[in-house]
Amino acid sequence: MYYDPSINIVDLILRKRDSGTLTRNEIATFVYGYTVGNIPDYQAAAFLMAAFLQGMNDAEMLSLTDAMLNSGRVLDLSDIPGRKVDKHSTGGVGDKVSIPLAPIVAACGVPVPMISGRGLGHTGGTLDKLESIPGFSTELTIEQYRQQLAEIGLVMIGQTDDIAPADRKLYALRDVTATVEFVPFIAASILSKKLAEGIDALVLDVKYGSGAFMQEESRARHLAETLVKVSEHFGKPTVALLTDMDQPLGRGVGNWPEIAESIDVLTGEGPDDLEEVTMTLAAEMIVAGAQAGSVEEALEMARDSVRSGEAMDRFRQMVAAQGGDLRAIDQPGQRMETAVAADVCAPSDAVGFVERVDALDVGRAMITLGAGRMKKEDDVDPLAGCILHKRQGDSVKPGESLATVYASSEERLPATLESLANAWSFSHEAHSPSARVQDRYSDGSWSR
Ligand code: URA
Repeated sequence: MYYDPSINIVDLILRKRDSGTLTRNEIATFVYGYTVGNIPDYQAAAFLMAAFLQGMNDAEMLSLTDAMLNSGRVLDLSDIPGRKVDKHSTGGVGDKVSIPLAPIVAACGVPVPMISGRGLGHTGGTLDKLESIPGFSTELTIEQYRQQLAEIGLVMIGQTDDIAPADRKLYALRDVTATVEFVPFIAASILSKKLAEGIDALVLDVKYGSGAFMQEESRARHLAETLVKVSEHFGKPTVALLTDMDQPLGRGVGNWPEIAESIDVLTGEGPDDLEEVTMTLAAEMIVAGAQAGSVEEALEMARDSVRSGEAMDRFRQMVAAQGGDLRAIDQPGQRMETAVAADVCAPSDAVGFVERVDALDVGRAMITLGAGRMKKEDDVDPLAGCILHKRQGDSVKPGESLATVYASSEERLPATLESLANAWSFSHEAHSPSARVQDRYSDGSWSR
């Protein structure tokens, strides 16, 4: 990793403050200096704010990504046969797509090495959901990760300390200095981690709407274009889908309820919107993994892997390999029965149809319940979550159940039921839900 001790960090802050540009070596020196503790928080914070306010050009953003990527270990999986492909989602409420997606894609012959994050804020994390499977470990060594990928074609683990350590430090500082929402920082942060995984190609799910990280569609489009540009600069063919996250994805939100619904997708019984997003992403990954010549052919392969039971079989192999209890997977309803449960019911003025279920309201209620965390240190309740019975376009009568909420104990149920009830709005007319996958970006243009 490049570091030039003769570079004075104050000069860099000054130049950025006055809207100058920084060289690749200057940015590398900043990233390395901060990661190893040579640059104190107050100078790094000033640097981040100067860049946030004055902007960074493409060359600076690429240098930042490169420096963050090379701040740690960059895995080489080239000895494992096949084109390795991963998916990254910008996250959303009820977004459990990775869990059925990875086994479907692996069953179609594409190795999937997936390194995921924990949930923070109103969007849940894949690791917390996976860890709600009793015994399932997401803390494998890199050697175990490689071995499992070679043996069963898929592995899902958490971030290790030696992958992109600069991002961990910089993200924590951005979080407390109001410098998170800046596209060059977001792109460098996401891609420094993904590019270190040893993948050959990447598929992105960039979400917009109430439950997404980027609420405005135009900003999500800009993020998608930037992520594709940066990822391809590093030699990884990349496609981005733009998907609607204004309402929760699927019916299950939380930890175990999302695992149960992922199993429904793997047995061909998932809700339409979740299947649409999962299968569209699967097809893109299968094409990126060179196992199909067109998206249509790949889509058929993905559906076949579910129909034949191959995808479910891969999922069971992964759960067993990572120490998970297969009895829980085989009887997801039984585990749900061990939770305490209560219903949110439609109010007396709820006549007609559900107009909308606000994803952000549902996500926040799930944090109140303990399904997610507000601070990194918070524990999550593996059983906590909800099943939405009434979604956009469904008819509704006063007193009907809108959702059932599950948790390990009753303690947080009353507050959750109260806040969750705010998520529904009603109308006399039926509004049918629109497609979740709104657009696709590749080769410099949007097309769908
Ligand atoms: N997710 C990340 O990993 N980094 C960001 O900066 C934002 C979202």
